[in-house]
Amino acid sequence: MKGIILHGGTGTRLRPLTYTDVKQLLPIAGKPISEYALENLIEIGIREVNIVVGSTGSEEVKKYYGNGERWNINISYTYQEKPLGIAHAIGLTREFVGDDNFVVFLGDNFLQDGISTLYRNYESHNYDGMLALVHVRNPEQFGIAEIDGDRIIELVEKPRQPKSDLAIAGVYFLSPAVFDSIDQLKPSGRGEYEITEAYQDMIDRKLKIGYSIISGWFKDTGTVDDFLDCNRLVLDRVSGKSSVTTSLRNVSGRVLMENDTYISDDSRILGPCFIGHGTRIENSYIGPFTSIGSNCHIKDTEIEDSIIMDGSTITLSKNFNLRQSLIGANVNITMNGSGSRTFKLVLGRDSKMEL
Ligand code: DAU
Repeated sequence: MKGIILHGGTGTRLRPLTYTDVKQLLPIAGKPISEYALENLIEIGIREVNIVVGSTGSEEVKKYYGNGERWNINISYTYQEKPLGIAHAIGLTREFVGDDNFVVFLGDNFLQDGISTLYRNYESHNYDGMLALVHVRNPEQFGIAEIDGDRIIELVEKPRQPKSDLAIAGVYFLSPAVFDSIDQLKPSGRGEYEITEAYQDMIDRKLKIGYSIISGWFKDTGTVDDFLDCNRLVLDRVSGKSSVTTSLRNVSGRVLMENDTYISDDSRILGPCFIGHGTRIENSYIGPFTSIGSNCHIKDTEIEDSIIMDGSTITLSKNFNLRQSLIGANVNITMNGSGSRTFKLVLGRDSKMEL
C-alpha cells in the first residue's frame, strides 16, 4: 500500500493567504494541515508517500517534508504544472504507484478518526476502489454518492439538486485499475478531470467499488470559516496530551505550549490553545481555541478563537480584541488609538496594519 497527498490546486477561497502560501501547509495547532494526513497514512503502515505539488509553493512543501527521514519513511514528489483536477493529479503518479494499491489524501482535508477503520474495510473486501462518505448539511458543495444497500449507484460532483447528503470525503482508496478510467476522462463543466467521474467509470466497468460511512467529524478546510472550525476541533482534541504541562498560575485549561515561550505575569491564557516555541505573550489575554505559531510577539492584546501564524507581532490595546481571525506569517499589527471595538481579520503573510 502506498500513499499520495495532494498539495496542488489554487486555494482561491483562502486568499489572500494562498497568494503566497500553500494552503495545505497552513498550520492548525502548530502543524501544517497536511501533516495530519501524513500521520494518518503512517498509522496504517504506509512507508512510501508521494506528494503532488503545484506551481504555488512547491519548494516550501519540499523543504518542509524533505525525503521523509523525519518520519522514517520515503517521500517523493510529482509536479502538477496546472491544477487540472484531482484525477489529473492522480494520473501523474502512475509510475510511483506501479502495481500497488494506494490511498490518496487531499492535503487540506481532516478526518477526526484517521483512516485505520476505512483501511481495514478496504483491505477485507478486496475492493478495486473505495470511497469514504460522510453526512453533510451542504451537499451541493461536495461530490455526492447515491447508494443502495452496499452498492454505490451514482456519483455526481457538486450536484445542484443532490440526491443524498452523503458527501465524498477527501480520502480515496484505489488500485491501479483507476488509471484506465482516468485516461478516458474529459474535463468537466468546471474544466477539471474529476476523480468522482473516474470512480463512476470504475462502477460502470463493473469493478468492485465500495464505500464506508465515516462517523467522526470531517473537515474540508477550503474556506476561512472551515479552517477556524478545524482549528477548534483539533485544539479540543489535542489538548489533554500537552507536551509541556505548565505550572504557571495564569495559564488554565488545556494549553499545549512549546519550549522557550514567555508568558508575562500580567497575561492570562485560557485553553484549549496552542502556543509555539519562542513566542512572547505580554499583558495579554489568549482565550479558548487560539493557535499561536512560533516566534510571535503578542502584547496588550486579547485574542480568542483565532490562528496567528509564525513570526507575527500584534500590539493592540486592552479594549480591543481579535476574534475568529486568521493572521498569516510575519504580519505586524500595531495600534495607535483608543476606544473599544472588535475586529474580524483575515491577513496574508507580510501584511502590516496600524489601527
Ligand atoms: O473535500 C472533499 C471534496 O474534495 C469532494 O467531496 C469532491 O468530490 C472533490 O472534488 C473535492 O472538491 P473540492 O472542490 O473541495 O476540491 P479542491 O479543488 O478544493 O481540491 C481538493 C484538494 O486537491 C486540495 O488540497 C487541492 C488539491 N488539488 C486540486 C486540484 C483541482 C490538486 O492537488 N490538484 C488539482 O488540480
